[in-house]
Amino acid sequence: MTKADMDWPNLTFGYYKTDQNIRYTWRNGSWGEGVLTSDETLPLHMAATCLHYGQECFEGLKAYETKKGNVVVFRIEENARRMIRSCEKILMQPPPEELFIDAVFRVINANRKYIPPYGTGASLYVRPLTIGSGEQVGVRPAGEYMFVVFVTPVGPYFKTGFKPVDVIVEEEVDRAAPLGVGDVKVGGNYAASLRAGVAAKQKGYADVLYLDAKEKKYLDESGPANFFAITRDGRYITPKSPTILASITNMCLLTLAEEMGLKPQRRPIPVEEIFDFAEAGCCGTAAVITPIGSITYRDRKAEYCKDGQPGKHCTELYKRLTAIQVGDASDPYGWVRTVPQEL
Ligand code: PLP
Ligand code: COI
Repeated sequence: MTKADMDWPNLTFGYYKTDQNIRYTWRNGSWGEGVLTSDETLPLHMAATCLHYGQECFEGLKAYETKKGNVVVFRIEENARRMIRSCEKILMQPPPEELFIDAVFRVINANRKYIPPYGTGASLYVRPLTIGSGEQVGVRPAGEYMFVVFVTPVGPYFKTGFKPVDVIVEEEVDRAAPLGVGDVKVGGNYAASLRAGVAAKQKGYADVLYLDAKEKKYLDESGPANFFAITRDGRYITPKSPTILASITNMCLLTLAEEMGLKPQRRPIPVEEIFDFAEAGCCGTAAVITPIGSITYRDRKAEYCKDGQPGKHCTELYKRLTAIQVGDASDPYGWVRTVPQEL
């Protein structure tokens, strides 16, 4: 198949138009048939609950071309289940797991020419979203929902790719509250994080690290990714907190770290511990593994990559993860699924 004419190795993490997206509507108690369309806009009632009351959630996963030319997706079932949890938390109708998977496969197949060729380092980012599309003026859940999936070819989220980034501990802004919706992927969490993220970038940092909103003592996560660190005594540690998103990438790294002989540990991480880590990183679908070069906290800076290079554990985790994702390494845990050409 002829691929689209794109500068694959230099793609950024941005929106590139592809050929088709898919939409489903839930009304009168059931989801309708999915409709593939080239229309990039949605027909939306001005009183739709997504516009006023934030009834919206989304997902992010990636498809890759393998060396043999197959197309695979990574842990798609986990994204489907997380979207169900997100919908349930803000009282939206969740797209069932099978419908979610079928929709993603259909959209990938309709856009095969935009799947970055094997070896370019780029991937096809899949963005499913569910919105309250029914009109409502009182604060109540909508009576109608839309589930949409589009794709866009992407490069690295942090423009340096697999190179250390500098981050700063955020003390003025909380992205989520302990009994709120920080553990699910609803749009409002990202709206709440915008001003901290933009301010950090203006100061020259790649992003922020949030602290727990209740005590402001423990590390939470970054704006678009989970946080992990490698301790000097060989542990892979990552925050346990009610306000962070349950990252699918992090779930994989906990397993891969153990394979590498690092002890995996999910626990509250006091912010002062940053001065003791051997390595630190961000992880997520978009961020993959982004090593952290330094963390600034108040007037102090913890540095991990003094030579400007990622640490050995981050590098090994990155290699193991990405080799499974693109089908170069065996997949003992069943994380990768081939996208069938015929559905
Ligand atoms: N945390 C936040 C706030 C995110 O937006 C993401 C991205 O999805 C992650 C963590 C990483 O999650 P995952 O690894 O499932 O992509
Ligand atoms: C992802 O990693 O898929 C995300 O959704 C992060 C995002 C905010 C770009």
